[in-house]
Amino acid sequence: MRGVAGTRETPVVVVANRLPVDQVTLGDGSTEWRPSPGGLVAALEPVVQSSGGTWVGWPGAPDTELDPFDADGMHVVPVALSAEEVAEYYEGFSNGTLWPLYHDVTGEPVFERRWWDAYRTVNQRFADAVAEVADGPGTVVWVQDYQLQLVPDMLRRRRPDLRIGFFDHIPFPGWEIYARLPWRKQIIDGLLGADLIGFQRGGDAANFLRAARSTSGVVTRGSVIERGDGRQLRAAAFPISVDAAALDELSRRPETLARAAELRRDLGNPTTIVLGVDRLDYTKGILHRLRAYGELLDEGRLGAPDVVLVQVASPSRERVEEYQRLRDEVEVTVGRINGDHSAVGHPAVHYLHQTFPKEEMAALYLAADVLLVTPLRDGMNLVAKEYVACRHDERGSLVLSEFAGAADELRQAFLVNPWDIDGLKDAVLRAIAVAPAEAARRMRAMRRRVSEFDVHRWASAFLGGLEMVAESKAERAAP
Ligand code: G6P
Repeated sequence: MRGVAGTRETPVVVVANRLPVDQVTLGDGSTEWRPSPGGLVAALEPVVQSSGGTWVGWPGAPDTELDPFDADGMHVVPVALSAEEVAEYYEGFSNGTLWPLYHDVTGEPVFERRWWDAYRTVNQRFADAVAEVADGPGTVVWVQDYQLQLVPDMLRRRRPDLRIGFFDHIPFPGWEIYARLPWRKQIIDGLLGADLIGFQRGGDAANFLRAARSTSGVVTRGSVIERGDGRQLRAAAFPISVDAAALDELSRRPETLARAAELRRDLGNPTTIVLGVDRLDYTKGILHRLRAYGELLDEGRLGAPDVVLVQVASPSRERVEEYQRLRDEVEVTVGRINGDHSAVGHPAVHYLHQTFPKEEMAALYLAADVLLVTPLRDGMNLVAKEYVACRHDERGSLVLSEFAGAADELRQAFLVNPWDIDGLKDAVLRAIAVAPAEAARRMRAMRRRVSEFDVHRWASAFLGGLEMVAESKAERAAP
């Protein structure tokens, strides 16, 4: 029997902007490796590990030339970026242009021609690195996310023998927004080099198909795209997920349970712990959430220190101006709420601008009575799924933005429009007051969904789909 790519029989080459580990330089000049931030790495690491595959990516620091090495069951191939490329390709085009544009302009996209040149140069470097390391015909290469949208076509030109998949972890915007991009056609043509393009939601795939028809003149039938040169590909939704079994196991460990109890004690044994966990990013709706929470305190509908809010905001893209501005605004807002509502030794908001290991996160999830996941726009949001996967006790409520991909699946959450501050306040109060039996019913249903559609199922659905597209192509090519 032929193995589905991504199982032990067929190693997969994952190409992502970041490696799963970042090299960090410490104060004394020495370096150490740390886990990389974000949902992409968390989801793909188990996939590459279980297939004994290869990961091609940037080690997270400028001017770092490293030889390939093996780590945690993966072959790791580092791609170096100069300081200027970090500024123009990563901070510039990827995170100053594409990120705000693709998240429905929740931030202002900057169109800078130099950044586009750097984006092309760096994408070509990634494509060249993969062309060198990928094995012979039929090898599966899986390109990840908005930083590398030109790689599929660049790679196909050098290695037409490969099977090329692409997965977009973030939203794909509607045509009216996407059409502003001066390089809209080049990006679509880059993606059309793939055999299969995956998106988080059906709406993202539909937006992409529309953009492909408008810019590149392709014909689409359902999810199938006819390129006009005889080659066919597909674009469809494959909602990403978490390693539910691993998180469930972690959350049941005695040390995790003990740490959760300790956290509650350290927070002063409040009646209710409300939690937010985000990268400090303007798409995450942190300011809207703080405004809602602050108003509930002002109006006396919630009372500190009976109720506390813990907001983990992990540092992200700190050299990009919009992120610096957001950090200032969040910190002023937290300071104001604490000034008005804290007591000595009992802050109303515990604000943690830090990154924690997954063991600590599992304990925080267990300690929290309510998790607020209220992004203004988010591809999926794996924090929501991690929370559900950790709540083996079937307790805890989830307040979830309808603008997160996770809202398509976690229907039993308290769904909110995060722009509607009054609606958000009502949802927070309902999530706090919900009867335990009702909370358990909701959590059980969400846990069933996340454990059935976990990250392994996501990967095998995508890689199985890629194999099918590539095979039907081979059949058509046969005499
Ligand atoms: C999101 C993106 C990822 C990215 C992560 C962390 O999850 O989809 O591609 O890696 O954020 O952001 P960073 O810029 O630090 O890689």
